[in-house]
Amino acid sequence: MPASFRPHYHISVPFGWGNDPNGFIFYKGKVHLFYQNFPHKPEWGPMHWSHVATEDFVHWEQRPEALYPDKPYELVCGCCSGSTIEKDGRLYLLYTAAQPMMQRQCIAVSDDGDHFEKDPGNPILTAEMLSTEIYEEDFRDPRVIRRGDTYYMLTGIRYLEGGIRKEHAPADQRETTNPLQPAPEHKKEGWGNLCLLKSTDLYNWSYVGHLLYNQSELDQDFYRLDGVYECPDYFVADSGDEVLISSPQNLPRSGDLYQNIHSVLYMIGHLDFDTGRFEVKKVEEVDSGFDFYAAQTVKMPDGRVIMTAWKEMWDRSFPTRAEEWAGTYILPRELTVEDGQLIQRPVREIVRCRRDPVRVPQLEADGNEVSVPGISGNVIELKFTLKPGRSKRAGVKLFCDQDHETLLYYDREEGLIAFDRKNSGEKITGNDEDVDRRVCAIGKKESIEFDLFLDVSSLEAFIDGGRHTMTGNVYPDPEKATGIKFFAVGGEASFEGLEKYDIE
Ligand code: FRU
Repeated sequence: MPASFRPHYHISVPFGWGNDPNGFIFYKGKVHLFYQNFPHKPEWGPMHWSHVATEDFVHWEQRPEALYPDKPYELVCGCCSGSTIEKDGRLYLLYTAAQPMMQRQCIAVSDDGDHFEKDPGNPILTAEMLSTEIYEEDFRDPRVIRRGDTYYMLTGIRYLEGGIRKEHAPADQRETTNPLQPAPEHKKEGWGNLCLLKSTDLYNWSYVGHLLYNQSELDQDFYRLDGVYECPDYFVADSGDEVLISSPQNLPRSGDLYQNIHSVLYMIGHLDFDTGRFEVKKVEEVDSGFDFYAAQTVKMPDGRVIMTAWKEMWDRSFPTRAEEWAGTYILPRELTVEDGQLIQRPVREIVRCRRDPVRVPQLEADGNEVSVPGISGNVIELKFTLKPGRSKRAGVKLFCDQDHETLLYYDREEGLIAFDRKNSGEKITGNDEDVDRRVCAIGKKESIEFDLFLDVSSLEAFIDGGRHTMTGNVYPDPEKATGIKFFAVGGEASFEGLEKYDIE
């Protein structure tokens, strides 16, 4: 078999295309994950829902395809994103039947978690049935939750202020790979927002209101978004904090923030279930890397909140297309809120996959690069604590071979972590200002913990105890690029408590 970019312990689409994770749920003893899939080609096409299931978040089994577009109301975009919920032992799947000028919600039901029956009354829900405030062209990605006896649905919308349809600035001329984005010649109305709906039976829904409004914690850009807050998610953390996650399209870049064309945000605050208003206390980006979108969470019976996400980004090239597939998903992450901040940790089950530990108590670098026997590989976990000392920059070079390297380092003067894939391997192109470097401001630190997961063409960095994460794909030679070097520039730095594990 020729060397492949396919990761070993991350979910990847077997053949064809995959985007958003959908319907993430614990049902009948297993965790089920569905994802947006076009099984015929490695590019977006009429959407199917593919299905995988797991008992440990690491080993996934392929299940039969859950949905495929076979109804007239699903023409031409298919069965777009959504969620699942259990009711009286049955699994209810809510999804968007998307057409270029109309997006409507549908329901399908299953008794075994594998076979879904679409409701004859589909689409059960249209913008028109609810409110003149919802623009029917952008009303998608239902996320259903239960509170007591009531079901609530969050969806991404374009919100028409006062229900009055008005023109706004023309969409720019950007080309996009996402068919649900504004086409350049078509002026979309309203602004990106989210709405809250409510129901007692999952079939009949009424409009509660829209979530985002002018408030002191929210800059204009957030409620004057020329796009949609795609793929909303909501959970209450153990700390009692309410967390709203969503993926705003086209959120303007602001300094070091929102460096990708499309972002994933978490907002901590309070959702008023009577009005739909979300009072925002804090807004932050979930991940500061390159490839992270459409995050969704599941609440486990043991109380953990686990997040998955698409480990790719729209409007970029996909080098794996040459292998007839495109689409990977993050290693699931455990979410908590600590001191008002979202903390992300690799799902604890991954520890069971560690093999052949190599431990080094301490390593110094001072204006040079250091490698250590036994610390190498590209399907590994690598942990260490960086003491930046007097260095200007210190960190690690990963996926190294003679020609390529991927950099992750702390810039002490700037107080930031940089992930640099300029010389990683196969070039990535995209509509971003810069597709090769992402930074994450962490401020002045004497000591920074890194927990890195390398998987052939994938890097996930958990930084400073999960206070920050940086995720991105790189495309070096899958067989040769296994070197690891520690480095410090402009002074000495030390690396402590190094641990390397093969992941199997
Ligand atoms: C987000 C998204 C969703 C939509 C789906 C279509 O990536 O645009 O809003 O439902 O992809 O595949």
